[in-house]
Amino acid sequence: MADVGQEEDFEAAKEKALKIGASKCYIEDLRREFIEQLCYPAIACNAIYENVYLLGTSLARPVIARAQIAVAQKENCFAVSHGCTGKGNDQVRFELAFYALQPTIKVIAPWRDAVFYERFKGRNDLLDYASEKGIPVTSTKSKPWSMDENLAHCSYEAGILEDPNTTPPEDMWKLTTDPSKAPDQPDDFTITFEKGLPVKLEHSGGKTATDSVDLFLTANAIARKHGVGRIDIVENRFIGLKSRGCYETPGYTMLRAAHVDLEGLVMDREVRALRDQFVTFSYAKILYNGLYFSPEREFLEDSIIASQKSVNGSVRCRAYKGMMTVLGRWSDTEKLYDASESSMDEIGDFAPSDTTGFISVQAIRLKKFGKAKEEAGQS
Ligand code: ARG
Ligand code: SIN
Repeated sequence: MADVGQEEDFEAAKEKALKIGASKCYIEDLRREFIEQLCYPAIACNAIYENVYLLGTSLARPVIARAQIAVAQKENCFAVSHGCTGKGNDQVRFELAFYALQPTIKVIAPWRDAVFYERFKGRNDLLDYASEKGIPVTSTKSKPWSMDENLAHCSYEAGILEDPNTTPPEDMWKLTTDPSKAPDQPDDFTITFEKGLPVKLEHSGGKTATDSVDLFLTANAIARKHGVGRIDIVENRFIGLKSRGCYETPGYTMLRAAHVDLEGLVMDREVRALRDQFVTFSYAKILYNGLYFSPEREFLEDSIIASQKSVNGSVRCRAYKGMMTVLGRWSDTEKLYDASESSMDEIGDFAPSDTTGFISVQAIRLKKFGKAKEEAGQS
């Protein structure tokens, strides 16, 4: 079992495993590597899938798979197993990771095994079986959806959520306060980045966190209190099906938003544009499709590091009623933003008349385009 920061009673889980027939139980704390090796590079390239999903589940799979293979190797196992259905992304993510990490491994996926699926048609049959055999499970018929939780997020899918027009019940969300019930007093805090990575979170009137796990937990606590990070989308799964998913990604949403903001101040325009077009999109797709252990991910990760050399500075933020807003930002090292050069109140290093030439040259092509339209009688 992997501890990726989900709120869970690990002792009870261990007891359950041993009770239902496990001969040995490993519980590995993967929180730090999850944050530092998976979440941070994704924040550093602002990764996002289909403009909305912050990839919380996709990010955890590589560290879980890696730890599972390590245990399998230690125990001389010929096979590993997972409980993913045959319809989702997670089966692909786990298995591609297993095969990349240990090409000879055999994978047992009960949901895709005829002996299993002829007996259990779906989740309800499993719930019946579990209650018949006294196996404790968190999913119930009154909360009929599938959840996946870690330090970055919690996902909710399936069950009643499969109708994309069903509004999730208020008691579904577990990591954030309902924004309409959030406190009337905001929380202000400052996030500092070095080379694109969060290194400090100073909570006004509260504590300062510098350790990565501590920083993440602090961001989560602030976001949770103010209901930041809920989303609801219909996404395209890798295998070609559409799926409705609800996600809450509290602290991560704020860290990513602060990072996006700082880049505006310190990053070169063209580096940013290339990164946005190629790296951000491709990195998200690689994570989503389960191709983390691949040459293309290694290649992109080097580009992320290269793109973040100048991303040093701090962003002052406010969490309030479901939103995080930016109050201001600064950087001690950046050389690109020159307030007097950009000022509308001062004459800078170039003459105003230079811009007349710039616009004339830019207009050459557009004038031709306009003329052709005019001649064709179009507007
Ligand atoms: N649709 C999301 C994704 O593919 C969430 C998957 C949640 N997984 C789960 N086993 N409940 O990343
Ligand atoms: C599953 O199919 O087990 C969960 C959903 C997913 O992988 O997308």
